Amino acid sequence: MKKVKLKVPATVANLVCGFDILGMAVNEPCDEMEFRLLDRPELIIHHTDEYGLPEDPEKNVAGVVLLKMMEHLKTNQGFEVTIHKNIKPGSGLGSSAASAAGAAYGVNMLLGNPFSEEEMVRFAMFGEELASGVQHADNIAPCIYGGITLVKSSHPLDIIPLSTPDLFVTAVHPQVEVKTSDARQILKKNIRMKDAVQQWGNIAGLVAGILKNDFALIGRSLSDVIVEPVRSILIPKFDLIKARSLEAGALGGGISGSGPSVFMLSEKKQTANKIAEMMKWEYDEIGVDSFVYVSKINDRGIKTVN
Ligand code: HSE
Repeated sequence: MKKVKLKVPATVANLVCGFDILGMAVNEPCDEMEFRLLDRPELIIHHTDEYGLPEDPEKNVAGVVLLKMMEHLKTNQGFEVTIHKNIKPGSGLGSSAASAAGAAYGVNMLLGNPFSEEEMVRFAMFGEELASGVQHADNIAPCIYGGITLVKSSHPLDIIPLSTPDLFVTAVHPQVEVKTSDARQILKKNIRMKDAVQQWGNIAGLVAGILKNDFALIGRSLSDVIVEPVRSILIPKFDLIKARSLEAGALGGGISGSGPSVFMLSEKKQTANKIAEMMKWEYDEIGVDSFVYVSKINDRGIKTVN
């Protein structure tokens, strides 16, 4: 195989209560990535998007992943990678994870699939480290496996693919800046036992709801008493948008990853679309530009394109 073209999906990390351990792939937006095998050990990265990301492999999220893979393989081959990002960096929709996971997946395909899914996640985690300073896998895992995944542990890596409930996701990305590093910095270092008990009840309930396809249980488990109260102050109109989404019939939702995007899950497409319109309207009203996406949970993760 000399060339591979991929569609790499956005992901929603945390799924409200599962900070750093749960994540879900969505169908929209997606990055496009193209890989070409070179017969010399060189790495060339091009970006065709408008985000001005560095193309120097050592400073590029996809680049550092591929450098690690090349070092591991001790290969004489190289790669030319063209990346078109539609997932805006800093959106909270797993933009860096898409670059990192797409890189590992594309090169693995070019080389005839020498690595397992878990090994690809392991390489891709170096990209997340470059982007946010932390090797978290809660976006990378669903991007590669599809559906909803549980990262039971990052070190040692223990990934449990859960399932793909038949639900619609509405995600809004208000154009305000929230850096993952800042959104992590403001979190409390210690939590109360009372809050911890409530949180692990919600996480267990959410995982059970996902596996049992029990939408009501999913809905009442989408509650976060630890991270959301701290981070939501960085997102304009967060409480109002959440309340109005629930009124409109959403099962539940919250901050996507570290924000500023907000996501909601709904059983019906009509509800998901109604929520999308409301979200857009609320941000228009205060003069904040926003992008809104409605899609199903993505059951396959990264896809090849002809
Ligand atoms: N779990 C991470 C966080 C995701 O919430 O900081 C960052 O995209």
